Amino acid sequence: MSKKLPVILDVDTGIDDAVAVMMAVKCKNLDIKLITTCHGNTTIENITKNTLSMLALLGEYNIPVAQGMGHALKKVREHVSVHGSNGMGGYEYKNNPLKALDKSALEATHEVLQKADEPITMVCISPPTNVANLLLHYPEDAKKIKEIVLMVGSNEIVPEGAIPYKEFNASVDPEALEIVVNSSVPKVIISMEMGHTAYFTWKDVYKTEHKNDFGKLLEVIFRQYHDYHVKNGIATHDGCAIAYLAKPKIFKMADANMTVEYFEQLGSGVGVIDYEKTPNCKITKEVNVKKFKKLYFKCLKKCKTTQEIE
Ligand code: BDR
Ligand code: CA
Repeated sequence: MSKKLPVILDVDTGIDDAVAVMMAVKCKNLDIKLITTCHGNTTIENITKNTLSMLALLGEYNIPVAQGMGHALKKVREHVSVHGSNGMGGYEYKNNPLKALDKSALEATHEVLQKADEPITMVCISPPTNVANLLLHYPEDAKKIKEIVLMVGSNEIVPEGAIPYKEFNASVDPEALEIVVNSSVPKVIISMEMGHTAYFTWKDVYKTEHKNDFGKLLEVIFRQYHDYHVKNGIATHDGCAIAYLAKPKIFKMADANMTVEYFEQLGSGVGVIDYEKTPNCKITKEVNVKKFKKLYFKCLKKCKTTQEIE
């Protein structure tokens, strides 16, 4: 068997993050060294709680979780969440025995990177605040990162004078995204179009519900996920980032240049893509939907939860 890919996963759990956590821990070629939590889809307290709940329900008791930044790096902006009252569509797992580490995401990430005997892949499926914070505090850690996979932005070319689409992770902390895109670390952008294309149809949701207990829970929370781009199903943004780690060949990629631009009309900044300028990242252009779903159901099949799902 080939060696597993060592990964640090940064999340704002979040309904599609919950799918990503499940896939990350169940993909056999990934070795999740640490999960860090970041503000975004709900408060940092809810996010840490939701992440620990998912791990416990998945029977994963040995993956360390460290709580990260509770707000954007420089400027806090108002944003609307589409993940229900607590980021998990109101679902709460009471009496979870799992606890977060008593050190911050910053310190825990720095420690894992420094101790690692090979460069680590980081995957960020939240606003990129924790990643930027790490690069600011420990610039020497950049050399320890193999690549950063970010679920952020759009792969569309924005016509001159037009206002780009305000993708959530980018617009919640554009200053952080600017630090990350300007860093020397190799970057892979999982653009929002992937999660809109590889969405779960209601047939997939039915299949999910009937797979096992964890699938039953996903079905319940999926019903509370209201990404308005996907009118007839469930967006899979963050799961696509994990699929890229596990099976990069299911994506068509392009070299691109991402810069962060600020628009008064949006009250925030966004990642703008240019395919003519010197590339500073790779970006997803297409996803093989069939292969993505095959991987998702393969991971889901491995979930055994003995916990009672209320
Ligand atoms: C991103 O925003 C969040 O709502 C999702 O969890 C995903 O990471 C999609 O734009
Ligand atoms: Ca997310």
